[in-house]
Amino acid sequence: MSQQNLDVFYEPNLRLTRAYGLLGYNAGYAEVVGRDSFDQHQKDLVWRLLGDVRIGPESTVIDVGCGIGGPSGWIFDRYGPARLIGVEYCPTSVRAAEQRWAGQVRRPYFLQGDAHRLPLADESVDVIFNLESALHYADKRKFISECKRVLKPGGTLCLGDICTEHRRFFALIGLLNRIRTQFSTHASLWSAARYIDTFGSLGLSLLRHEDVSRQSADSLHDGLTDIGRRGWGAARGFRGRFFYLCFVEKLLRRRWLTYDLFAVVKK
Ligand SMILES: C[S@@+](CC[C@H](N)C(=O)[O-])C[C@H]1O[C@@H](n2cnc3c(N)ncnc32)[C@H](O)[C@@H]1O
Repeated sequence: MSQQNLDVFYEPNLRLTRAYGLLGYNAGYAEVVGRDSFDQHQKDLVWRLLGDVRIGPESTVIDVGCGIGGPSGWIFDRYGPARLIGVEYCPTSVRAAEQRWAGQVRRPYFLQGDAHRLPLADESVDVIFNLESALHYADKRKFISECKRVLKPGGTLCLGDICTEHRRFFALIGLLNRIRTQFSTHASLWSAARYIDTFGSLGLSLLRHEDVSRQSADSLHDGLTDIGRRGWGAARGFRGRFFYLCFVEKLLRRRWLTYDLFAVVKK
């Protein structure tokens, strides 16, 4: 998948986040419908994925597929790690993340890079955070083995992704990936079971697995309701994405898609 194609896919997301003052590109997590803003739901998904993983003032954390840097910034502000490096494939998103922190001394840093070849030394990272990005990776096993390479012994990978048990159906939709449009998702989905098998076969121990499909669907419902309530005035350039996200919400509710959170540790 080329950077240009991915940039085209994420352009409506960038417009949407700018119009609504959002900093994340993820589906979010809502324990209760209608209680919090979508921005809060996106933060809550970050906290849910991290769980009780330890991040201290000496920790090195990387956020792979960091988008426009919202989750990197939230983690940095809450835990104050020594280093937080966001690695992102799309140059447009890297620029948006950089702009937000320009001029600040204590801040996360952002690199353009590919999850399949992490630009980091062996055994140099304490925590890898990877949220709703691996769905785009052509070779997820390669990504997970890269995580194992860069993690220190005892380090943790926190990975949240959209999964499916209906791989053949989504492989058909994946044919759209050959065309450069905002509806080419550039996704190739795994089942949760395949993730768990792959972690085990690469020698990573599963600490936690949680299915948050219902909470993610509820979060999307809140976000989409909010956009509908504010009217279409600001919606230029992302109406298509609105209907696409409505479709994702339905698929999560019917469990054609699932939203899975994993934490694994390198022994
Ligand atoms: C749904 S967004 C999630 C962004 C961020 N994690 C968040 O929660 O706001 C997925 C991100 O993964 C990035 N991505 C896709 N393929 C990648 C790759 N091979 N290496 C690094 N990032 C990638 C995309 O460009 C996009 O910004």
